[in-house]
Amino acid sequence: MISKNMENALNKQIELEGYASFLYLSMASWCEQQGLEGSAKFMYRQSDEEKEHMMRIFYYINEVDGHAITPAIKQPPLEFESIRSLFTQVYEHEKKVTAAINSLVDLCYAENDYSALNFLQWYIQEQREEEALMRTIIDKIKLIGDGPQSLFYIDKEVEKINVITEKEEAANEAGAE
Ligand code: FEO
Repeated sequence: MISKNMENALNKQIELEGYASFLYLSMASWCEQQGLEGSAKFMYRQSDEEKEHMMRIFYYINEVDGHAITPAIKQPPLEFESIRSLFTQVYEHEKKVTAAINSLVDLCYAENDYSALNFLQWYIQEQREEEALMRTIIDKIKLIGDGPQSLFYIDKEVEKINVITEKEEAANEAGAE
């Protein structure tokens, strides 16, 4: 059983994760338009991950006898000033998500909802990893510079991260079999 308060708060989180999925999809499309294939692939994967984050909460709410609400689709921005601005926006959005997860954890304590508290542990770790990853990319962009000549090298750096992530995912899948 879930309280109405917690159900509403988790449904708000569904909205935030769903929006992140659409925002990152829009970013993937912009990167592809710019010829930044590595960054596009990265953002497509981020978009898929956010959908998964949304669905975990969706299933959880219904599992504890609440009603998971399918959010309205809000149009994300379609254009981005630069690759640096794009990744800065991702980082800012991730910080917003982290703050929202922290508020949910506060609510768990206020309501003695240990089931939700346990469920949210996964998100705490995920947010720490995502913020660290975005900071790494932004640091690399600062180092390389983001003028027209640098885009190729930035994209190569992001592609390196894609390769590492794909290897990790493959290892996890092999481990799960
Ligand atoms: Fe699901 Fe990246 O926040």
